Amino acid sequence: MNAIVPNSIVPQSMASSPDTARYARAIAASKAVRWDIDKDVIRGRSFDVAKKYLPDGLSLVREMALSEADMRLVSQIQGRTYANVFGLVERFITAKLIDVSREHTLGDQNALEALVRFSDEEIKHQILFRRIEAMMAEAMPAGYRFDVDPDAVARAVLAKSTWSVLVLTLHIELFVQLHYRESIEPDNGLSDLFKDVFLFHWKDEAQHSVLDELELKRHDATLSREEREQAVGDFIDLVVAVDAILQIQAKVDAVYFAMNCGRQLQRDEIEQIGRHFLKAYRWQYIFSGATHPRFQGIVKGLIGGEQMKRIEAALGTLV
Ligand SMILES: [Fe+2]
Ligand SMILES: [Fe+2]
Repeated sequence: MNAIVPNSIVPQSMASSPDTARYARAIAASKAVRWDIDKDVIRGRSFDVAKKYLPDGLSLVREMALSEADMRLVSQIQGRTYANVFGLVERFITAKLIDVSREHTLGDQNALEALVRFSDEEIKHQILFRRIEAMMAEAMPAGYRFDVDPDAVARAVLAKSTWSVLVLTLHIELFVQLHYRESIEPDNGLSDLFKDVFLFHWKDEAQHSVLDELELKRHDATLSREEREQAVGDFIDLVVAVDAILQIQAKVDAVYFAMNCGRQLQRDEIEQIGRHFLKAYRWQYIFSGATHPRFQGIVKGLIGGEQMKRIEAALGTLV
């Protein structure tokens, strides 16, 4: 008898995971919202520099004593950085999701298809964010910099445990939805193109966070107490690493603001603007996700009170 043929063939239905219906719903949602960068999002438009890009609820610009023109410039700088940060984090998100999808290749085919679609969508998002970075570069004055290498960041992130990367990914994909629903969508003063970029991005992220949760719980169930303890430390390291990037970008963006606001700023004014930018970036990329009720609920369901306190204490140092 051919050794490759098993004695009893497991019916395909036996290869389904208990979550197969949730994976199937994610596939259906992904198909329903499928969009094209040119046909649906850009539609031949360009960025209008007379409009804001990032809404006040995210840029926190109302906390700065600035003129309307200055506030618009701040929202454009932070909006450009916002698109670049997503392009950056999506590099490691795609790599990790391709990694975990391998565990389903010979198992639940709904899980495999849902995660392949997820990875495909994240690659499309990265293409979209590179496109709009080039378009914003045409619309805005020269001198803007975002010098973070997505591959170098991805290599450093992927060296950490899978649990910590999946928790960071869940965090990102929840805050992106919150930002769109609560700040971007309700603001009628924004660039239509900027708004549409994050409308279409949001449509995909809704099912991505469902898949993040499924993969995180599936992976968490395989860990020992010691491994989870180590993974919590890894997650804290990742948040601190994100913050280090934000600290640099806040200073770089404040200098770009100073170069283009049309008047001479003193060194201490530039430093003060940099501190405001950092406060806004920490709200955008760390605290709005960390305080998200669904994020808190999922993570608290996986770790003990002591480990949650470790995370909260680490976040408390970032103020
Ligand atoms: Fe994305
Ligand atoms: Fe996503």
